[in-house]
Amino acid sequence: MSTAPVPELAETATACADRLHAAESVLVASHIDADGLTSAAVADTALERAGIEHEQVFFEQLDAEHIDRIAATEHETVLFTDFGSGQLDDIVPHERAGAFTPIIADHHQPADADTEFHLNPLLVGLNGARELSGAGAAYVLARALERDGVDNRDLAATAVVGAVGDMQDSGGELHGANAALVEEGVAAGALAEAKDLAVYGKQTRPLPKLLEYATDTYVPGISNSYSGAVEFLDGLDVACRDDDEEWKRWVDLTDDERQSVASALVRHAVSRGVPASKIERLVATTYTLTDEPEGTELRDASEFSTLLNATARYDRADVGLAVCLGDRTGALETARKLLRTHRRNLSEGLTWVKDNGVTDAGNLQWFDAGDEIRATIVGIVAGMSMGVDGVDRAKPVVAFARESETETKVSSRGTGALVRQGLDLSVVMGEASEAVGGGGGGHDVAAGATIPAGEEEQFIDRADAIVGDQLG
Ligand code: C5P
Ligand code: C5P
Ligand code: C5P
Ligand code: ZN
Repeated sequence: MSTAPVPELAETATACADRLHAAESVLVASHIDADGLTSAAVADTALERAGIEHEQVFFEQLDAEHIDRIAATEHETVLFTDFGSGQLDDIVPHERAGAFTPIIADHHQPADADTEFHLNPLLVGLNGARELSGAGAAYVLARALERDGVDNRDLAATAVVGAVGDMQDSGGELHGANAALVEEGVAAGALAEAKDLAVYGKQTRPLPKLLEYATDTYVPGISNSYSGAVEFLDGLDVACRDDDEEWKRWVDLTDDERQSVASALVRHAVSRGVPASKIERLVATTYTLTDEPEGTELRDASEFSTLLNATARYDRADVGLAVCLGDRTGALETARKLLRTHRRNLSEGLTWVKDNGVTDAGNLQWFDAGDEIRATIVGIVAGMSMGVDGVDRAKPVVAFARESETETKVSSRGTGALVRQGLDLSVVMGEASEAVGGGGGGHDVAAGATIPAGEEEQFIDRADAIVGDQLG
C-alpha cells in the first residue's frame, strides 16, 4: 500500500478498511446527488476489487425510517457514504442493539452521538464544505482498502467529480485535501488540471451558447445575448465555425485559439467596465477526465457532475451509478435524456425566481416555489439565484418547495463572504427546523431541511433571528 492521501484521516481510514475486510456482506447506503453517486461508485469499486460482497442503496435524505429499514436487512455491516454523520443519533441505537456495524465516510456536520468507524474531515479539523467531499472521504477509504497490489488511485478522478458536484471548487480551484486527490489522479493518469476559461459547457456547448450562458461573471453585450456572443466571435481572427459553417465547441479550438478568444473576452469585459475582481473569476482550474472521449459530458468534471445530478435527483440513481461504473451504452443514453430535462427544469426554475422575486425578511431573503420547482433541485436553483437581478448576494437565500402533502423541503445557500462573517447555515437549518418539528443540517455555505407543511412562516422568523445573531 502506498502512502495515505490525507494523513490526518489515515488512522481512521485504516480501522474502517480493516473492519470492511472482516465483513461478510456490506450494504452501501448513499446520498442521491453527484457527490453521493460518485462516493457510491468509489466505494463499490473498491469493495469489488477487495473481493468484499456488497449491495448498493440510495436515499434522498437519510431519516430514522430509512435507518430502521436498513437495520431490518440481513447485512451486518453498513457503509454510509455522503451522509450518516448528521444522522448518528438515529444510527447508534441500532448499532448498540446489534443490528449492524456502521461505517461512515461523510463530510456533513456530525450529530452528537459518535461511533468507532467514522471517517469525516470535520473530525480532524479539515473543512467539510471546501476541502473534502463525500466522494473524497470514500476515496480515502478506498485507498486504505488496497491489498495485494490493488491500486485505487484511478478512482481519484471519480472523487474529483464529486467534489466539483458539491461546488468545492467555487473559489476557482480545489484545495486542501482535495488537492492531494487531484495529485493522485494526475499521477494515475486519470485526471488533468489546467487553467482555462471558467464557463460551464466547454466540452459540449457550441461557442455562442457557451458564452451566452456564461453569466457567473457577467460580460455586458455577451452574457445572456446569443446575438451578442455571435457578433463577438465573428469579430475575432479565429475560425469559430467548421467547414460546414457549424459552430465549433471550446474543445474543438487549438490552445492558441482558446488563448485568443479568452484574451479577447477579457479585453471586451474590461472595455465594458467589468471590475478587475470579477474579471479574475473568468479564469479557473478545470479538471479533465483524460480517459473519457473529448467533446462528451464525461470529459469535464463539472459537466459530468451535472449529468449525475440529472439522474439521481430524478429517481434514477441507478443510471448515474452505472455511468460512473463505466456503462457507456444504455445508461449513458438515458442519462443524456435526463440531462435535457434537468437543464430545462433549472432554467425554468431560475426564470420563475426572477419573475416572482424574493421576500426580504431582514437578515435573509426567501421564496416559496410550492410545486413550481422540484424539491430535489430547489437547492441548485437557490444557489444559481444568488446574484441574479433582485437577489442580494449580501444575504443568504432560503427556498421552499413542496415535498409532499404534509412536508415542505427547505434549501438555503450563502456565499464564502457571508461564511467569513459568521454565517453557518447548517446551524440555521438544524435549529430552525427543530423548532417547528422538522429536521435538517448540511454545511456552513449550503444546508437544507424538511419541515411540516404550514410551518414556513414560523420557520423563517426563527431562521432570520439565528442569521441575525450569526452576522451581528
Ligand atoms: O449534499 P451535499 O453535501 O452533497 O451538497 C452540497 C451542496 O452545497 C451542493 O448542492 C452544492 O451546490 C452546495 N454548495 C454551494 N456552494 C458552495 C459549496 C457547496 O452552493 N460553496
Ligand atoms: O457548474 P456548476 O457546478 O456551477 O453548476 C451548478 C449547476 O448549474 C449545475 O448543476 C449545472 O447543471 C447548472 N448550470 C447550467 N448551466 C450553466 C451554469 C450552471 O446548467 N451555465
Ligand atoms: O437539499 P439541498 O441541496 O439544499 O442540501 C444542501 C445541503 O444540506 C446538502 O449537503 C444536504 O445533504 C444537506 N441537508 C441535510 N439535511 C436535510 C436537507 C439537506 O443535511 N434535511
Ligand atoms: Zn456531499
